[in-house]
Amino acid sequence: MTGTDAQNKIEDSNIKVAIFASGAGSNAEKIINYFSGYEKVKITLLVCNKPDAGVIKIAEAATIPVLLIEKEQFFRGDAYVEILKEFGINLIVLAGFLWKVPKQLIAAFPDKIINIHPALLPNYGGKGMYGHFVHEAVIANEEKESGITIHFVNENFDEGKHIFQASCPVLPTDTPETLAARIHQLEHAHFAPIIETVIKNLE
Ligand code: GRF
Repeated sequence: MTGTDAQNKIEDSNIKVAIFASGAGSNAEKIINYFSGYEKVKITLLVCNKPDAGVIKIAEAATIPVLLIEKEQFFRGDAYVEILKEFGINLIVLAGFLWKVPKQLIAAFPDKIINIHPALLPNYGGKGMYGHFVHEAVIANEEKESGITIHFVNENFDEGKHIFQASCPVLPTDTPETLAARIHQLEHAHFAPIIETVIKNLE
């Protein structure tokens, strides 16, 4: 596909994105702002499993509907596939969503679920490796470098095909907080443009 073909594709199609997030929502906010001027790409829904998450206020301020989900239906029901289809969602972006994505949801959105992880996978990924745990482990191992990985989601935590990585130094003086702040800057700079690239390549 040429650059022009890709551009045509994005202009011809109507891409509806659901962001799944359950934290402060700084990445969600960047993504919402990035696509706010786009006619054909709409952030259509915020899916969240924590009623008090900061990201809910961010969605509300942008007048994006919020779907609060429950464990039972997510893991043992239909994983909200029906509602997501009703909203016409064709891409799911995980931006600080910690629950494992059930098989059923992956099957309904094959290669259409993207996650961002605050480390250079395959290192520092997997169950329990999230948020400050990642940065603590990186610092404890005296790594010289960390970064971000944007990847497709499969049935195993943090194991789907990589789309993009970017790295940053780990300084001897770093605490988990200072490293987290540096990683957040990388996330904010790259996540939305990479989502745009994925959208351009959607079949
Ligand atoms: C990010 O660091 C992301 O890598 C991880 O969760 C964090 C979410 O941060 N998956 P925020 O809620 O977007 O500020």
